[in-house]
Amino acid sequence: MLDKSRIPAHVAIIMDGNGRWAKERGMVRVQGHRAGMEALREIVKHSDILGVKYLTVYAFSTENWKRSLEEVSGIFKLLVLYVASELDELNRNNVRVNIIGDWSAVPEDARNSIKKALNTTENNTGLVFNIALNYGGRAEIVRSAKALAEKAAKGELDPAGITEDMFSETLYTGGMPDPDLIIRTGGEYRLSNFLTWQSAYSELVVTRLYWPDFTPQEYEKAIEEFQGRDRRFGGVKC
Ligand code: IPE
Ligand code: IPE
Ligand code: MG
Repeated sequence: MLDKSRIPAHVAIIMDGNGRWAKERGMVRVQGHRAGMEALREIVKHSDILGVKYLTVYAFSTENWKRSLEEVSGIFKLLVLYVASELDELNRNNVRVNIIGDWSAVPEDARNSIKKALNTTENNTGLVFNIALNYGGRAEIVRSAKALAEKAAKGELDPAGITEDMFSETLYTGGMPDPDLIIRTGGEYRLSNFLTWQSAYSELVVTRLYWPDFTPQEYEKAIEEFQGRDRRFGGVKC
């Protein structure tokens, strides 16, 4: 049984398996992404219902540009559709949308939708919904290193005084807790450049289900599995 009093504060999800889901049905990959968007809609709602404070979803990685133009542009078109159909409800539910990753590189219509979603929800105080777009964990770390190096070069920061907390603050997730739980659908046991710094002590739950088949019920099962874990953070259990 799910313990409602021990819901992880930050859940991150690697939404993988859309392509295989489509292939199994004789559909094109973009149709898998469309079905994935429907799954996401339900998981965002359910995160709010369960009392998750931060939900971070991996929507497009810095490596996903290797895919065909058709697939890449299809994914960004879906983002535009997602914002058009979901923004009102997200806003009504007090959800704050946030983007992690270098979204300056995404197509203009998607950028406009993102700006609208960010502006509309910026003062909301409920669930923080991070969408990782053109996100890579290594790129994020390099970006932070550059920001700190620039401060040091200007004499505003002593390199010897750089701390882990300072570094964390300069990441896209600055001010947020690290993910307690990272769920990966699609059966692969890897992080694929997701939250490289922040995942140091995250619990990982992998399900073989493809992302479009991931339901709120499966989500609760993953959280239950998380609740059964013994998080030691390098210490010993008394
Ligand atoms: C994940 O599904 C979504 C994105 C990477 C955008 P995939 O498209 O990677 O699906 P599979 O892994 O090929 O089945
Ligand atoms: C990870 O899935 C990226 C997203 C879910 C957006 P990939 O399908 O890109 O990861 P790999 O290629 O299997 O490592
Ligand atoms: Mg994949």
